[in-house]
Amino acid sequence: MRVNSAAKMRSADATPHAAALIEGLRDIGYSLETALADIVDNAVTADAHRVEILSETTVDEPVVGILDDGKGITEAELIAAMRPGSRNPLDARDSPDLGRFGLGMKSASFSQCRRLTVITKKIGLISAAVWDMDKVAKTNRWEIDLVNDPGALPWAHRLGESGTLILWEKLDRLTGGYSHDGAKRAEVINQRIVTAERHLRLVFHRFMEMPRKPLKLLLNGRVLKPIDPFARSHAATIMDPEEVLPLRNGGVVIQSTTLPHHKAMTQAAWDELGGPEGHLKSQGFYLYRGFRLIIYGTWFGLCRQSELTKLCRVRIDIPNSMDAAWKIDVKKSSAQLPPVVRDRLKKVLERISDGSRRTYRKRGQKLVDQNRMPMWHRIMADDTIRYRPNVDHPAFTDFAESLPEGLRPSFFNCISLVGASLPIDALHADMAGSPEQVMADAVDEDTLVQAVQSTLVRLLERKFDLETITSMLKDVDPFRSSWEATERIIQETVDARASK
Ligand SMILES: Nc1ncnc2c1ncn2[C@@H]1O[C@H](COP(=O)(O)OP(=O)(O)OP(=O)(O)O)[C@@H](O)[C@H]1O
Ligand SMILES: [Mg+2]
Repeated sequence: MRVNSAAKMRSADATPHAAALIEGLRDIGYSLETALADIVDNAVTADAHRVEILSETTVDEPVVGILDDGKGITEAELIAAMRPGSRNPLDARDSPDLGRFGLGMKSASFSQCRRLTVITKKIGLISAAVWDMDKVAKTNRWEIDLVNDPGALPWAHRLGESGTLILWEKLDRLTGGYSHDGAKRAEVINQRIVTAERHLRLVFHRFMEMPRKPLKLLLNGRVLKPIDPFARSHAATIMDPEEVLPLRNGGVVIQSTTLPHHKAMTQAAWDELGGPEGHLKSQGFYLYRGFRLIIYGTWFGLCRQSELTKLCRVRIDIPNSMDAAWKIDVKKSSAQLPPVVRDRLKKVLERISDGSRRTYRKRGQKLVDQNRMPMWHRIMADDTIRYRPNVDHPAFTDFAESLPEGLRPSFFNCISLVGASLPIDALHADMAGSPEQVMADAVDEDTLVQAVQSTLVRLLERKFDLETITSMLKDVDPFRSSWEATERIIQETVDARASK
């Protein structure tokens, strides 16, 4: 076949219709939180160390502002920056630059409002420009307004020697449909901003934790605290060594972390780490681009989010030079794994699930280890797993011996009945929903005394020393969960035997 490369062509004008395209820019999938993060990205890139999110919601025309103390830009730079597609995504960028497409400020803002004003000050010189979608709708022209008196705009007086203030007005997307009910509208906007707060604390936590000049993020004057999804400052967090995967456009750094068990931290700290979605959904890879978190809580389809790996979180760090390979999107909220990284991550995952399974098996062994005298047996046979009360446990046998012989079979029948009616379905449902809230019933002092005494005596008969017995009991319930009382009862029993 011959390709006719010399085919004659004509050209025709295909300039986009401003009114139509600018409306289209609104709906590329931003939420308030991703939109705010995109604006904060620009501030961080401009070297800001203080970024304040401001809102005035009780007035007739509510306004949201994002104020930074970064480098600011000149009027000429501002005019260029207002253009959708102000930079070519194929251009190389400095490594701390969080941008790529020359689009974010516009698309993020339009996703939330119909009027965007950028007021910026560079070494004392102030300028401001406005994109008003209603004006574009009327004129159908890509035309911005330059403000002659920027100092009069809301919060403009708060700009320092240099810095930038982004204003969102005509907040049609934020009002939740309550455009005529001022009080309700204010409530909706405030509520949405508060919901976005967690996202910002998480997405920028590395900048907020930097030892030198940390980023200070404020929401209406309130300083936000970073959320470290790896709880690195917690003593019980286990962090594997970092591995570096060198690629053509830079290195990918990978580090697996196992979070502390929920019992090792306060409920508040545990809940904050899990977030509204909970720990099951928050496990997975945490992908950072230039230290900014872009995706989290997913295994990228490489494995399921299971109870077994619930405490595992894997940090992946990539530089902005790999955007094309990772297919980073404008919102910086989606990416795809390059095949070579996918293969390496599969290996990381194999290691993680092996480790988790080993811990699980170890627990299983403890449960079936005869010398530890468990109250329950875990029996695996014919592909089934059954839990059965250990009727040979001294707490049961000792009591049975104290019964008249005729009553003993009925006593063991009662115990079997408890075992056979273990509410498996309910347990399963509860464990799938909120496993950390499921726990064994607490035992009262009398029951504990009876169980400790009978177990202790039997173990002493088997010639175990007190230290070994103590460590054995510490691992099994009900002693483990009432350990302080158990230790005291052991001591009292030993003392009583010694004084006999
Ligand atoms: N807070 C700010 N301080 C200083 N300059 C800013 C600020 N916000 C935006 N700019 C300027 O405006 C330009 C356009 O920003 P925009 O977010 O639209 O694109 P980008 O950051 O270059 O790329 P991306 O689309 O990936 O975000 C930036 O490149 C920057 O020069
Ligand atoms: Mg940007």
